[in-house]
Amino acid sequence: MDGHGHRPRHGGSGVTPDDARAILRANDRGGYCVPTARLYPFQWNWDSAFVALGWGSFDEPRAWQEITSLLKGQWDDGMIPQIVFHAPSDDYFPGPDVWGIARTPPTSGITQPPVLATAAHRLWTHARDRALADAQAAAVYPSLLRNHRWWQAARDPERRGLVATLHPWETGMDNSPAWDAALARVPTETVTPIRRRDTAHVDASMRPRGAEYQRFIHLVDLFRDAGWDAARMLAVSPFRVADIATNAILLRAERDLLALAARFGTAAEQAEIGARIDRLDAALERLWRDDLGLYAAMDLTTHAVIPIGISAGFLPLFAGHAPARAATLAATLARWAGRAGRVVPSTDPAFPAFEPRRYWRGPVWAVVNWMIAGGFAAAGDAATAARIRADTLALIDAAGASEYFDPTTGDGIGGADFSWTASIYLLWQDGTPA
Ligand code: GLC
Repeated sequence: MDGHGHRPRHGGSGVTPDDARAILRANDRGGYCVPTARLYPFQWNWDSAFVALGWGSFDEPRAWQEITSLLKGQWDDGMIPQIVFHAPSDDYFPGPDVWGIARTPPTSGITQPPVLATAAHRLWTHARDRALADAQAAAVYPSLLRNHRWWQAARDPERRGLVATLHPWETGMDNSPAWDAALARVPTETVTPIRRRDTAHVDASMRPRGAEYQRFIHLVDLFRDAGWDAARMLAVSPFRVADIATNAILLRAERDLLALAARFGTAAEQAEIGARIDRLDAALERLWRDDLGLYAAMDLTTHAVIPIGISAGFLPLFAGHAPARAATLAATLARWAGRAGRVVPSTDPAFPAFEPRRYWRGPVWAVVNWMIAGGFAAAGDAATAARIRADTLALIDAAGASEYFDPTTGDGIGGADFSWTASIYLLWQDGTPA
């Protein structure tokens, strides 16, 4: 291991499916996986959706357990938190004491991209054990429905179509340059003393900067003062963006929930989900940018589109939105590939904000690649999907199941032996795009 928790690898030693399964087993804390040991010692929301799919390739009961463990953190109002603190750990800040949420198990008070219904639906449709899948899907369907109702009630109460994210951590793309302008409006003062733990585990040059971190915690302080009440949080937050990833993933998740509702729900529920799908599908159109050849996020405080190219801009294809744009999006991706070397960099490499080694400002993330490839495949562009899959597998083969990868050098950086990266490796073994 080097100072950053990585095993040195020489000349592409190769990862095998057995290695990937061993990572999931090693990160299993009893019914749920931590994203990686030490750096992230609890259960994370969207990580676990992908991890459930990884388990699904070889242990279906354990796959469903990953989902039911996450749902133990679901709030009464339907929100599924970003983090469930199943067991104490000193390795992470901010822990349960900072969030100050009195429930068991303790959780954080914000959410993350809603991949869960898509994961449950895929486990159900790909099941080898049909009886297990039917029973488990029937059991989780009501929780998923409550969660999608929460997204609308809490984050789009006026029913304009796009849901708001109130913290960069909710987007799952914590320090994306797309959030810079909105985050600059958030003060850096915090009530909570900051005790960063991440930079003890990973080199600071690969993590968010200090001022960003203070703003992240300022928002946590503000929401805690608002009593974690959804309407008050939406009203007081100085950070309010319509993230493309969250909205595209929600649209895809609604379509997957509709398929589950056809089997496990009522006609009224199907109609309700169908209405939300129509509204969100129409609203995503507002995020298309001809000049970028890409979708872009929107600042819901100023109502301005955020003109920064980020990898999430390809995700509406994953939601089945406007498949006719696949060729334009493929041309954009080819331009990015020409500059960065490997796809898909998290930020357009032509942008000044592009930093190939800093977290969400440039590195490649396997889970995002899997969704983008799935979108291209569904839209009929098998070649682009295959290119993304090949790049991802080559990166993992050469550098291990790292948290993220430098697109210009192929280095694996951030935390090592990451659960969701191992899961994508397993998912892509059979040659299917997504
Ligand atoms: C970071 C990532 C987020 C992920 C979490 C655990 O916060 O930005 O997307 O869910 O780590 O892996």
